[in-house]
Amino acid sequence: MYQDKIEEIKAAIAAADANTAEELEAYRMEFISKKSVVGQLFGMMGQIPNEEKRAFGQLVNGVKNLADEKFQALIEKVNSSTSKSKSREIDLTLPPSNQQLGSIHPLTATRQRIIEIFERIGFNLSEGPEIEDDWHNFTALNFPENHPAREMQDTFFIEKNPDIALRTHTSSVQVRVMENQKPPIRTLSPGRVYRNEAISARAHCIFHQVEGLYVDENVGFADLKNTLYHFAKEMFGKGTKVRFRPSYFPFTEPSAEIDITCLICGGKGCNVCKGTGWVEIGGSGMVDPNVLENCGIDSKKYTGFAFGMGIERITMLKYQIKDLRLFTENDARFLKQFSPLMT
Ligand code: DAH
Repeated sequence: MYQDKIEEIKAAIAAADANTAEELEAYRMEFISKKSVVGQLFGMMGQIPNEEKRAFGQLVNGVKNLADEKFQALIEKVNSSTSKSKSREIDLTLPPSNQQLGSIHPLTATRQRIIEIFERIGFNLSEGPEIEDDWHNFTALNFPENHPAREMQDTFFIEKNPDIALRTHTSSVQVRVMENQKPPIRTLSPGRVYRNEAISARAHCIFHQVEGLYVDENVGFADLKNTLYHFAKEMFGKGTKVRFRPSYFPFTEPSAEIDITCLICGGKGCNVCKGTGWVEIGGSGMVDPNVLENCGIDSKKYTGFAFGMGIERITMLKYQIKDLRLFTENDARFLKQFSPLMT
């Protein structure tokens, strides 16, 4: 009878297969281990009549060898298929996968660079709300009651009486900082600002500014000039010149507009600088004593300078971008030119 059983086991061994380590182990348990069907055959020796023991032993050994050989073959098969798939994972000859690196928005890159330059000379960062009251955006900054910037064509009002509006400049953050801190104050306030302007290549109703403020004893106009001169050289390159043009802002006295040498033509004169060789990047001046007093700072003891620059403007000059609208259109062909390493 055991002959049938042995034939059955032989057929099962022949049919067995394994593709994974788990299946290999299952095979070992079924045909190789002590408790396997082959192991059990050896246990039957006691029930076999003496004269048949020799023939039975030979048959069982034959099955065992068959099981062992098959086991070796399966081990090789599993090993070679897993090592093949492993080496496929790290095939260095394959072309690189086409994974795209994200890019940093040019305005973000410029903002980061500006912050970096001023942080190194001791300015900290401050922020204020984009929805402002009249006091912080206008009144504390010494805007006369009837100043045109308060009128509807410039400002997006949210509520009238009391006036709540989208801030028209980051100078509002100056007021908030001075109200809450004592000099010495050295702070930089980047942020988004809003003006009711028609969108064109040169103007937008939403744009970004960075405001700087330095208040301490004995701060003078020379400090303002040196600071902005340092900034221009760091931002645009060593050869950049800075020019201060007398101007008017309600919150500074004296006030000056900041020009730098035109980067497009190197100061020779082109259509970007309208032939002058200079381009404007912002406004500046000595903080008006009225503004210091409005914010609770003793204007007899302290003086300060302030400046405000357009981040879009600086970015356009630095990367020679001709149309402001590109910054907000999210055209991937434009944006992907700015690699994360570009700042
Ligand atoms: N707030 C002005 C603007 O938006 C820019 C400016 C001018 C800021 C002079 C200043 C400054 O801090 O001192 O046009």
